[in-house]
Amino acid sequence: MRHCIYPGTFDPITYGHLDVLARAAKLFDRVTVAIADNPGKDPLFSAAQRLDLLQNSVKLPNVTITTFGGLLVDFALAQKADAIIRGLRALSDFEFEFNMALMNRHLQPAIETIFVMPNEQFSYTSSSLVKQVAKYGGDVSHFVPPNVATALKAAFKVR
Ligand code: COA
Repeated sequence: MRHCIYPGTFDPITYGHLDVLARAAKLFDRVTVAIADNPGKDPLFSAAQRLDLLQNSVKLPNVTITTFGGLLVDFALAQKADAIIRGLRALSDFEFEFNMALMNRHLQPAIETIFVMPNEQFSYTSSSLVKQVAKYGGDVSHFVPPNVATALKAAFKVR
């Protein structure tokens, strides 16, 4: 059983993330989506909300979704995962991802990081840009599933 972790903040999940996840689910027997309970990033949605949004957006049988705190490699080890999977949207992602992969390898050599490239139509999608568009009433339906679009509308109404 090959098992990988797909980590991220997912604030919120986008079609770009779902594209990476679909590729991971084809490559591995099991995928655990790991939502970082990452207060440093001041997320719009709480970890519980992000979990709920993901659970309602993902329908793949070999995927489970959970939250985690602390070091990613410790979580991956505790889950007995073989690898971490990350998406590379464009060259600009490379340096950050490269440093993170090497740091994770330094911390835990047994866990490999694997990169996949999402469909190029998502190369400019990011959670921050989606939030910015939603905040000012723009249409985000091309970038996020309907439940996420609804949650974004609700979040910006109360702010
Ligand atoms: N489609 C759309 N957007 C994507 C994407 C894709 N395929 N891949 C990345 N992104 C965007 C996200 O939308 C996000 O955009 P934003 O910054 O505008 O919000 C950005 O790229 C990065 O987000 P994400 O992929 O969710 O990762 P992250 O950088 O927020 O999270 C963790 C990185 C959680 C994996 C990392 O912080 C971590 O491991 N934390 C735990 C602590 C730890 O172990 N630290 C040491 C690491 S060396």
